[in-house]
Amino acid sequence: MSEPEAGFATRAIHAGQDADPATGATIVPIYQTSTYTQTAIGEHKGFDYSRTINPTRLALERQLAALEEAEFCSAFASGMAATSAVMNLLSAGDHVVVGDDLYGGTYRLFTKVLSRYGLSFSFVDLSDLAAARAEIRPETKLIWAETPTNPLLKLSDIAALAALKSAGQILVVDNTFATPYFQQPLQLGADVVVYSTTKYIGGHSDVVGGAALTNDSALAESIKFHQNAVGGVPGPLDAWLVMRGAKTLAVRMREHARNAQAVAEFLSSRDDVAAVNYPGLPSDPGHALARRQMRGFGGMVSFTMRGPESRAFTFAKETKLFSLAESLGGVESLLCHPARMTHGSIPKEERERRGITDGLLRLSVGIEDAADLIADLRHALDASLEPALKN
Ligand SMILES: Cc1ncc(COP(=O)(O)O)c(C=O)c1O
Repeated sequence: MSEPEAGFATRAIHAGQDADPATGATIVPIYQTSTYTQTAIGEHKGFDYSRTINPTRLALERQLAALEEAEFCSAFASGMAATSAVMNLLSAGDHVVVGDDLYGGTYRLFTKVLSRYGLSFSFVDLSDLAAARAEIRPETKLIWAETPTNPLLKLSDIAALAALKSAGQILVVDNTFATPYFQQPLQLGADVVVYSTTKYIGGHSDVVGGAALTNDSALAESIKFHQNAVGGVPGPLDAWLVMRGAKTLAVRMREHARNAQAVAEFLSSRDDVAAVNYPGLPSDPGHALARRQMRGFGGMVSFTMRGPESRAFTFAKETKLFSLAESLGGVESLLCHPARMTHGSIPKEERERRGITDGLLRLSVGIEDAADLIADLRHALDASLEPALKN
């Protein structure tokens, strides 16, 4: 159960994690069942069918709600399923203001799927409040913000965005990068928080999942309704894996942030690195805001090197600890080329206009020893330097 007086790490380990009422099992069992035997017609123990409700999923939802200090949580089969369920709050004719730097899959869902259902979208730099305000119209129903953004690590001011909206408009924050350990958007005025729990919350790159959280009972009821009606629910094993991962979120996030700070400082110290995006760097445009609205700067860093953009391709062949892979937020370090990987679904011109060039690389800094990570990056920078200079 939610224990708001307990600290974050304590809640991560105990909230929703009561001993199993049937056997006393200390760890919540994986209730691998689709259905539940009823004692008489219309008489059951609160569980009837696993798309609607499952005890393992319920334990995860209670744990995540406690971490967010939110009243309601619905868990999903993926971050995209959570995003879709939240977008099910809208109807044809509604307009959405969206941050223009965001996960490519969210962009794809909005522009290639939901636009066919009569929703319209305006993409705008949400770090520019005047620009955001200018996009809000009478038919605007929802503002969708990622902060920090994927992949440019730009920040938007959640409290200021909440102040911009009028009654009936919903502010949704995709908090996947920061996690509730570093940022709690509901406390800053957001109406709904969305996660890909595939990332830091799961934390081990072994499960895909998502979640949506809110303190608003009407929104919660509608999200729950669509969770069941549309059916994007996680299976019990996946819910269990996310729950197990979330128990160590606090210790992992501290290490991710410590290593990311060291990596960002190392990259900034190199003459052959053109730009480093990390809100923990005092020179970063989002630094002052990050200090206000976050409790730490997270584990994601993106950067561009000097030289031709093709240098990124050579660099990506040379790292040994940073594996070239989609996704982020696991204990192991990953390297991603957003233009060809996570953001490939955004047309090239549009990508480049937003700063997602072919030279941009994104690091998910893991929790290995910082010195080893830096040695790996130093090697790849040095090894990619020579061909670059020859061009
Ligand atoms: C910020 C962000 N939101 C949402 C998603 C989608 O999550 P999933 O892959 O779990 O569907 C991702 C995936 O990379 C992401 O980075």
